[in-house]
Amino acid sequence: MKNPIAKGVFDIVPHDPSPEGVWRSSHLWQYVEETIRSLANVYGYREIRTPIFERTELFVRGVGDSSDIVTKEMYTFEDRGGRLMTLRPEGTAAVMRAVIEKRLEQQPASQKLFYIGPMFRYERPQAGRYRQHHQFGVEAVGDPSPEQDVEVIDLLCELYQRLGLKNLTVMVNSVGDAKTRKEYGEALRTHLSPSFDQLSAESQIRFEKNVLRILDSKDQNDQKLLEKAPSILDFLTEESKEHFVRVQALLKKIGRKFVAQPNLVRGLDYYTNTVFEITSGELGSQNAVGAGGRYDGLSPLLGGPPLPAIGFATGIERMIQTCLAQNTPFPKAPHPLLFLIPLGERAKDRAIDLSYELRHQNVATEIQWHPKKVGTALQRATQLNATYALILGENELDSGSITLKELATRREIPLPLTDLIDFLLGLNPTSD
Ligand code: HAM
Repeated sequence: MKNPIAKGVFDIVPHDPSPEGVWRSSHLWQYVEETIRSLANVYGYREIRTPIFERTELFVRGVGDSSDIVTKEMYTFEDRGGRLMTLRPEGTAAVMRAVIEKRLEQQPASQKLFYIGPMFRYERPQAGRYRQHHQFGVEAVGDPSPEQDVEVIDLLCELYQRLGLKNLTVMVNSVGDAKTRKEYGEALRTHLSPSFDQLSAESQIRFEKNVLRILDSKDQNDQKLLEKAPSILDFLTEESKEHFVRVQALLKKIGRKFVAQPNLVRGLDYYTNTVFEITSGELGSQNAVGAGGRYDGLSPLLGGPPLPAIGFATGIERMIQTCLAQNTPFPKAPHPLLFLIPLGERAKDRAIDLSYELRHQNVATEIQWHPKKVGTALQRATQLNATYALILGENELDSGSITLKELATRREIPLPLTDLIDFLLGLNPTSD
């Protein structure tokens, strides 16, 4: 192949024939996106669409200049005017920028926002990790309360439930405020410094730059060194503690199972108080299906007013892959209800009238305009997963009697031609 697709990205196509590529089938994406939209509506979240690229500075400030995203993963380019732009690596900073710019928090309909779209991170591609991935995210701005936190967490859990994802672990933690993280960071450094040489190379770098991220390390030896480390929960202010206690009590009240995980820190620098992550055993090392948290300090950091906010994002690739790994039933791909095979000019003429009338009445209809062989046309009807095929020839036109072939069962249904449309309409074709 002379001009192959770039590394770490993929096409979403109607039907990917490879067994490991089923998740790239567009009807699965449409189904997940429809489920998301209807759920977002139920919880009162309205859609926001921000640009695919923003000024680089937004992400450097918003996501944090010590984060992996900013230091290693951004797709940054200079535009023709010499300005530095970046393909968005995540949605939160851009949504907050839009909120500040348009004062969206002042309009009730714009306080709870959701988005669906591609994000770009220059990461080492592997199963479940791509350079262009797609997120569904929500951001609720203006409400500092634990009740708002729980609404957001519940929305994510409910989405997974509706999609049929199973065996998920919901982890929650509090990372407190900036003072807490500074003091805890110092305590963690003090704990780890005698064993600095035994830390993995990556954790040694993090030790200086962002020591809390060592808690995230997948290295077994690092995890061992962390076993007796102090807990961030002992460094929370009274207010943060109270907030976290209330979040947990509310989650219990609504029956959402979770694990309090004091080692949960997130890779983006903007979080304050509540953070959470939902993982699936089915995803291998890239096991986070969705994650989020509160980020009360982000707005002032971007030059906006004090604006408490919380949100999450969940990877659409990972949701679909988890569903498929768990054999969750998905709706069937779209398919024609009727596949018309006209033989000869007269039949073609009639097929034109029939097909347009059916399509205008919402019946999915496909036609083989120039069938060379009836057998090949029927084969195509089967490949397209049509429910019925109709061979329309001189005999059928002269007698006015047709035989519908139900392809899956090979059942033959005799019918007057004049009844065809009513018959198909009576089937409520949109129901499957
Ligand atoms: P994040 O944890 O960086 O958070 O990403 C959210 C989700 O996006 C992950 O849990 C994962 O499912 C998916 N994801 C991330 N990177 C990749 C990748 N390279 N390939 C495939 N999937 C990926 C955020 O982006 C925050 N903005 C979430 C948030 C919203 N926090 C508050 N509001």
